[in-house]
Amino acid sequence: MLTLDRVTAGYGDVVAIEQISFAIEKGTTFALLGANGAGKSTTIRTIAGHVKPKSGSLSLNGKDLTNVPTSDRVGLGIALVPEGRKLFSDLSVAENLVVGGYSRIKSAQQDNMDRVTGHFPRLGERFHQKAGSLSGGEQQMLAIGRALMAEPDLLLIDELSLGLMPKVIDDCYTVINDLREVGLTILLVEQNTERALDIAEQVCILESGRISWTGTAQDARGNQDLVQSLLGLSTG
Ligand SMILES: Nc1ncnc2c1ncn2[C@@H]1O[C@H](COP(=O)(O)OP(=O)(O)O)[C@@H](O)[C@H]1O
Ligand SMILES: [Mg+2]
Repeated sequence: MLTLDRVTAGYGDVVAIEQISFAIEKGTTFALLGANGAGKSTTIRTIAGHVKPKSGSLSLNGKDLTNVPTSDRVGLGIALVPEGRKLFSDLSVAENLVVGGYSRIKSAQQDNMDRVTGHFPRLGERFHQKAGSLSGGEQQMLAIGRALMAEPDLLLIDELSLGLMPKVIDDCYTVINDLREVGLTILLVEQNTERALDIAEQVCILESGRISWTGTAQDARGNQDLVQSLLGLSTG
């Protein structure tokens, strides 16, 4: 579904990721792991279109995305849950959801909101509350909900469980599992290695902007050295 071919990207003169190639199959979950600063967010931002590749290309269902602007990528079915949520804190839960659905026809809005509050009943209870007054867990639910309002085929999630309580992480993963079951394709960046290896089919590990290991989650789980080094990262 999504293919990256030798993508190099960064900020100004800084090269943050170099020669990154991978493919994500439709309907699968792909975990992107690595230490702080390894280039996970840059990879995800390049896919969303917030960072422009210096070289290499990316494509979605065979269509070249390299020069497609971010807003058009949303229309093509790519939605991002950014690191640190990036909600509009002065806007209500409902208003944040409306913003997430801007690329879709207005008549679909109510159905999409119902779907989101079905996944996250807490958001329904907090519907008119300002996003900035929500707990961290509720904010992450809202960030996921906002992305779902765009009716994505490919959901990019940067640091799903970072800073959240275990119970909230469970709730978020329950929803991610439900989304998988209805066929959504997911790219997950996680500090929580165990969770990521549990849910993903494919795993890619970044080290200093390059791919250091890639394979199935099953192979990753069976590789004790690899798991130990990843567990070492997850506390960082
Ligand atoms: N906005 C930015 N400007 C300049 N350098 C950046 C910026 N964002 C990230 N970087 C650098 O790019 C590299 C990769 O960062 P990032 O993709 O955020 O890694 P990760 O998400 O794996 O922690 C790091 O060296 C980081 O310092
Ligand atoms: Mg990051």
